[in-house]
Amino acid sequence: MIELRDVSKSYEIDTVALDDVNLRIDDGEFVFLVGPSGSGKSTIIKLLTAELTPTSGSITVNGYDLGKIKRRKIPYVRRTMGVIFQDFRLIADKTVFENVAFAMRVIGAREKAIQRRVPAMLELVGLEGKEDRFPRELSGGEQQRVAIARALVNRPQAIIADEPTGNLDPSMSLETMQLLERINQLGTTMLVVTHERDLVNRFSKRVVTIMNGTIIRDEQDGVYGL
Ligand SMILES: Nc1ncnc2c1ncn2[C@@H]1O[C@H](COP(=O)(O)OP(=O)(O)OP(=O)(O)O)[C@@H](O)[C@H]1O
Ligand SMILES: [Mg+2]
Repeated sequence: MIELRDVSKSYEIDTVALDDVNLRIDDGEFVFLVGPSGSGKSTIIKLLTAELTPTSGSITVNGYDLGKIKRRKIPYVRRTMGVIFQDFRLIADKTVFENVAFAMRVIGAREKAIQRRVPAMLELVGLEGKEDRFPRELSGGEQQRVAIARALVNRPQAIIADEPTGNLDPSMSLETMQLLERINQLGTTMLVVTHERDLVNRFSKRVVTIMNGTIIRDEQDGVYGL
């Protein structure tokens, strides 16, 4: 479960990026977070990953109260979430296999587990046969699927995606979103930030709309409309 309670965030005195936000996402949900540029979407993501701390309010992520846990415990919280970005953030000089494996290596996974789980993840995202390619040898959509496999490989409870289709063409965007939908149906909570209206409206999902740092709408089977 992900929950923000009365969360406000100011980066600088006199400017408010988030103003008293309340948002709860239960396990297994799929949520689109939409809103205009500068409305506070990425700020919410960065608060959830503990990259930022709120000015006031409290945040719970998968059982951890971010305001109460010790700094050195933050990596444990992060392991409960897989994060995906618009610009993929792959390691250029590692292969597809090694990009995904790296996420397991940094948490000290055993080689046997890596050899078992990485191929399973690559198959899930439709990249079997491309294990030995480098990121530059892949299309944008394929690179994003590597990033999705990497986000999933440590079996997070939730995936948090900030504009995952922002660098993809419309058909790749739709395929990527359908992949995220399938992963959600397999049990992973999904929070997807996007400002692609057409894409949001092709799915029947909960849509949370934020404007000027305030949630102005939160609807099941919602539409993107401002
Ligand atoms: N590091 C920062 N320092 C100061 N102000 C910031 C910082 N990061 C964001 N802001 C401000 O906070 C507000 C919310 O920014 P945020 O990045 O959350 O918007 P967003 O909804 O993700 O926008 P976009 O759709 O363009 O990505 C904006 O007014 C922005 O200018
Ligand atoms: Mg943003």
